[in-house]
Amino acid sequence: MEEKELILNNPDALQRADSLDMFGALYNLPEQCLKAWQMGMQCALPERRDYRNVVVTGLGGSAIGGDLLRVYAGDRMEIPVAVNRDYLLPLYVNRHTLLFAVSYSGNTEETLSAYDEARDRGAAVVAVTTGGKLGERAARDGVPQITVPPGIMPRSATGYLFLPMLAVLSRLGLLEDPAGEVEELASVLRGQREKLHPGVPAADNPAKQLALKLYNRIPVIWGASATSEVAAQRWKGQVNENAKAPAYWNVFPELNHNEVVGFEAPAELLRKLHIVILRDVQDHPRVKIRMDITRDIVEKAAGGVSEVEAVGDGTLARMYSLVYLGDYASVYLAVLYGIDPGPVKVIDHLKAELARR
Ligand code: F6R
Repeated sequence: MEEKELILNNPDALQRADSLDMFGALYNLPEQCLKAWQMGMQCALPERRDYRNVVVTGLGGSAIGGDLLRVYAGDRMEIPVAVNRDYLLPLYVNRHTLLFAVSYSGNTEETLSAYDEARDRGAAVVAVTTGGKLGERAARDGVPQITVPPGIMPRSATGYLFLPMLAVLSRLGLLEDPAGEVEELASVLRGQREKLHPGVPAADNPAKQLALKLYNRIPVIWGASATSEVAAQRWKGQVNENAKAPAYWNVFPELNHNEVVGFEAPAELLRKLHIVILRDVQDHPRVKIRMDITRDIVEKAAGGVSEVEAVGDGTLARMYSLVYLGDYASVYLAVLYGIDPGPVKVIDHLKAELARR
């Protein structure tokens, strides 16, 4: 393990391993969030209507911002927010729907298909993209467009793909102005990055420590519904996309009714798991107790259990602080595996093959 720690403690080696500068994009996330918020405050708005639901349609790195919005809005908005990760939209989408079509590249076929369907059904649409076909269609249709800067990987653009939606909802009067929370978010992330960036040695860097624990283990990330659930899902996706390794996620209290039963056998397999429990001060008091009991149950069988705690006062900062830690940890994990974190050749291959057929 010491040898692995030496790799993580060599900033030049980390930089060399990271051809697309994922570390740089992570470091710039606080500024990205502030810029993204401003973009949402200045963009053209869709018309004011009797909106009855909000739908975010997108995939992968372009969908997770929809989940952040869904959870954030859960106890703040009177109409539901749903995330759609498919070609088709649910039947309830109609002219009372405000739909965000989000695709960083603008060329994801599922999102383009859902965009067309939303237009056919008369929904009010806002496009969030760097351009591509989605940008072209939005320009053709006179649909409000939030054009975000190109040049990073979609999963590094969560600020751009999330905060403008929040601003639009607030400007439409569907959500109380979260400007104060956005400022806190940027300052919490700035504080965190000073502990997580590649220059901080493993002994003082929680993201590097987590990567060392997850190395050669299958990460199983457990969050809680309505607080850390998006972070749990995001950690899983980031281990997949950055470290090119398997990972799984689930939420309390649901996992207490099934997944936790699966810790009896086979012992050898269970020892391969490293469980990370994401904790948040706002977790339901009964969920906090469930986490304690569950930890005791699984600790005996699993290869290891870690806990991390959200940072910050506001919901935005707390949700994102967990996401940020997982993002850094997954990039360090990639380096430990000798993997370049940026490129996602399998996704590129799938998209190219689909385009041919
Ligand atoms: C790549 C990534 C992917 C993409 C997804 C959809 O960094 O995160 O999950 O986000 O393939 O592509 P876009 O975002 O261009 O619509």
